[in-house]
Amino acid sequence: MSAAAKQIFSVANSSQLHARSCRALALGVSSGLRRHIAPAPLFFERGEGPYLFDVDGHKLLDYTLGWGPLILGNNHPAINAAVTAQLSRGYTFGAQHRGEYELAELLIDVLPGVERVIFSNTGTEAVQAALRLARAYTGRTKVVKFEGHYHGWLNNILVSYRLKPADPCQPMPACGGQPEAEYAETLVLPWNDLAAVENAFRQFQGQIACIITEPILANGGCCLPEPGYLQGLVELCRQHGAVSIFDEVITGFRIALGGVRECEGVRPDLSVYAKALAGGLALSAVAGRAEAFQALEDGRTIHAGTYNGNPISLAAARATIETLRAPGVFDGMHAHGQAIRDIIHCHSAARGVKLITVGLGTVFSIHFGIDQAPRTYRDTLAADDSQYRRFRLAMLRGGVHLLPDGRWYVGATHGDQELAIVDAAVEQAFQESAG
Ligand SMILES: Cc1ncc(COP(=O)(O)O)c(C=O)c1O
Repeated sequence: MSAAAKQIFSVANSSQLHARSCRALALGVSSGLRRHIAPAPLFFERGEGPYLFDVDGHKLLDYTLGWGPLILGNNHPAINAAVTAQLSRGYTFGAQHRGEYELAELLIDVLPGVERVIFSNTGTEAVQAALRLARAYTGRTKVVKFEGHYHGWLNNILVSYRLKPADPCQPMPACGGQPEAEYAETLVLPWNDLAAVENAFRQFQGQIACIITEPILANGGCCLPEPGYLQGLVELCRQHGAVSIFDEVITGFRIALGGVRECEGVRPDLSVYAKALAGGLALSAVAGRAEAFQALEDGRTIHAGTYNGNPISLAAARATIETLRAPGVFDGMHAHGQAIRDIIHCHSAARGVKLITVGLGTVFSIHFGIDQAPRTYRDTLAADDSQYRRFRLAMLRGGVHLLPDGRWYVGATHGDQELAIVDAAVEQAFQESAG
């Protein structure tokens, strides 16, 4: 075992700050998923490009990217300049400004098939806005979502997100405080199964307002849609008078500038964007066909929010998109993602470790103990999570910071130097697990 492998990853300062935090901040973390992260919820001092600096003196190569948004890393000069310039002109107006239509026009330019846009702050909010638009437009109430998909933390949609193999395919609340009445209009179906969708349309004829899907199941092991599946969903929605909604909170501005609209050529009625859209600032958007916004424009429904369209986030989004738009940026990120997967497969093959990586370009997942690509979230339940947990801790000791669920996010500031760090850390991690 190498010296580095024996090295202890000290979290003394993080643990101390977490204990203090718990005395004032419920849970000691600001989002539930950060609570049980081993070896402790880490406290960070600052971030620079693809690196994070924690309070115990570690410089960590970051493939979490803030759970996705930091597609340009931290402290990016273009975002800093845009935000700094806007700061001196105003934080928020609660009224109109040029930045709103400028960004809306830019989105229409880069997102194929998009004719209208609305802004909000988080993915959770934008999903709700899309569901409301769909219900108001169709005059129907039922919403179809799929097992293992995450669309934010609100009661009507946070069902059948994390499951046990024996759980039935029906809306299963994710936590306490979710009264059944609040998800009574939500139908849950297996993903990658158009026959199940056709059945639902038959069974609930004239009642389904919309279907919402992550186009790549990034929150459930990065399963990919089967050829024709996404197009099939959109067509079934059109045939049955329902609205198709692609939740591109993760994939938007990440797998391509135009997300799956660009790389799969599919045109859902509505798409939801957040995370990478503003490179790390809070901004979300619903974008799609003009007709799908009709109920908003004719006053049948409303969309509101104090911070909607705030100029700081919009300035960050314009800078992010213009930076991502430069030639070669996506090719570079995709090549980096593939290179990491090649490294992982090369070292796992050498050590006889059974695993598979699944995903697309800049977002992929690693699953231990299986070697067939999972088609659905349920298939991922066969993976060996404990092996991943050990791998993740070994990677942390090797200086690489990963998410607890096996997902990797690649960004524009990850380069060859970072690949070398990953290579050494992966080799060491497999060496440890073998020894
Ligand atoms: C696909 C998807 N939709 C919606 C959300 C909710 O976004 P937010 O956390 O910004 O509310 C997330 C968050 O991870 C997501 O991954």
